[in-house]
Amino acid sequence: MNNEAVPLHPAEAVDTFACCLLHPCHRSPQPRPMSDDLFDTIVSLSKQRGFIVQSSEIYGGLSATYDYGPMGVELKRNVKEKWWQSMVYQNDDIVGLDASIMMHPKTWDASGHTEAFNDPLIDDKASGNRYRADELIENYIRALREEGEEAHAEAVRERLVEALNAGEEMNDALHAIIMDEEIPAPESGAFDWTDVRQFNLMFETEMGPVDGQKVFLRPETAQGIFVNFHNAREPARLHVPFGVAQIGKAFRNEIVARQFVFRMREFEQMEMQYFVKPGTELDWYEQWKERRMKWHESLGIDPSNLRFHEHDQLSHYANAAVDIQYDFPIGWKELEGIHSRTDYDLSRHEEYSGKKMSYYDPWEEERYTPYVVETSTGLDRTLFMVLCDAYYEEEVKGDTRSVLQFHPEVAPVRAGIFPLTDKEGLPDIAREIEDDLNQHFNVRYDDRGSMGKRYRRQDEAGTPFCITVDFDTLDDQTVTVRDRDTMEQDRVAIDQLATYIFDQTANWEASA
Ligand code: GAP
Repeated sequence: MNNEAVPLHPAEAVDTFACCLLHPCHRSPQPRPMSDDLFDTIVSLSKQRGFIVQSSEIYGGLSATYDYGPMGVELKRNVKEKWWQSMVYQNDDIVGLDASIMMHPKTWDASGHTEAFNDPLIDDKASGNRYRADELIENYIRALREEGEEAHAEAVRERLVEALNAGEEMNDALHAIIMDEEIPAPESGAFDWTDVRQFNLMFETEMGPVDGQKVFLRPETAQGIFVNFHNAREPARLHVPFGVAQIGKAFRNEIVARQFVFRMREFEQMEMQYFVKPGTELDWYEQWKERRMKWHESLGIDPSNLRFHEHDQLSHYANAAVDIQYDFPIGWKELEGIHSRTDYDLSRHEEYSGKKMSYYDPWEEERYTPYVVETSTGLDRTLFMVLCDAYYEEEVKGDTRSVLQFHPEVAPVRAGIFPLTDKEGLPDIAREIEDDLNQHFNVRYDDRGSMGKRYRRQDEAGTPFCITVDFDTLDDQTVTVRDRDTMEQDRVAIDQLATYIFDQTANWEASA
């Protein structure tokens, strides 16, 4: 079963709608659009402002695959960089890795993906549309709650949890709920279902020109770390406890993928496997939970939009697991999983490869197979969160100001640079400032339109600082720096600009 198919909690179902109807949204000083609008707003501004667009759009798009435009790619690089710094550069017991997307097929037998990385699929015979049976039921429960049928909703939820834990009986149990509750197909309204069957989410392809070997596009990056346990540890001369971090593409043939970059068929993961001595794993698990929550907050995310969500049922190989959830416009949903995975993965790879995957502790003079604490987050989902959390609109002098209040460290453009006019050499000075500052971070020169328009453009792009070269600059070599969030302006010497921006970045806090 795909790890994400978690049964719906009563709290979750309520939150989804509370979020849409009650919650004027997050941190911003002015009310944002209600959350059901927020989803559409983020999708449309992502396209208009060059963050994210559907893949192959000119051909009508390829479902659940997305491309990052000029702004999106910078945001993505900055978030990756921040993760990498916090994992690899700031921990001398963690090293990086970049494993290939295609791995030996036995990897997936060992990991259990060939046999069990499945979602329950059901077809509407009338329309031919396919659905995830568990999601159909979750949506039905949500609808019951909206109609105030709390007891009925709770009874169906209990059946769903039972069905998802029914092992080989799962398909029949899910089908029975759909039949008993007479759940119609969402699009056609028909009640004409096939049986439920398991659908493996891995993408297959063939390697080599003739009668190629069947290989899979990896559904998670983690296995690249497990199979490289020795290759990462030995050259880096690391001893347990230590970690290996990786950022890379993963692929899942999701049955339902209509949630923008929340659920994609090709996406990027940022994963870290921390190898520990058996018996110490739950202490490490607690530490990583807290550290990962702090990291999300360090992106400038409002802490009240983040929470831990304990798993109802643990996978057979895990002895602890929690999700960090974010209050997305589609409800509280998983952003990151933190799992204590015991020695399951290393032991399975030892069994399937015949190679020893254990570790010899030279101080304790003992050999053991390390346990693993995993932190696994989706980069695209993180960006979706950053966009949702940053967006707000406010009235300024009768105009609507639309802002992306990104943390300056992740903002696609750190500073806009404007000459007040094209006279008296102001553009030349602005260009010199650009050449100096772009050694440190991404900046944008802009001389088009009124100052007001230039500020609004940068507010929409989430640029935290705007530098204006004006006539006073000619006398005193200072410029105006305008703060995106407060719209206040400081006068700063040109030769102090980089330091000023670094200081402001280090001290930045989202305005409350
Ligand atoms: N190695 C563990 C693992 O892959 P997971 O919960 O299946 O665990 C980890 O995935 C994270 O990857 C999720 O928390 C989510 O952020 C991201 N993710 C998973 N499936 C995704 C999808 N279809 N689209 C975008 N992100 C996804």
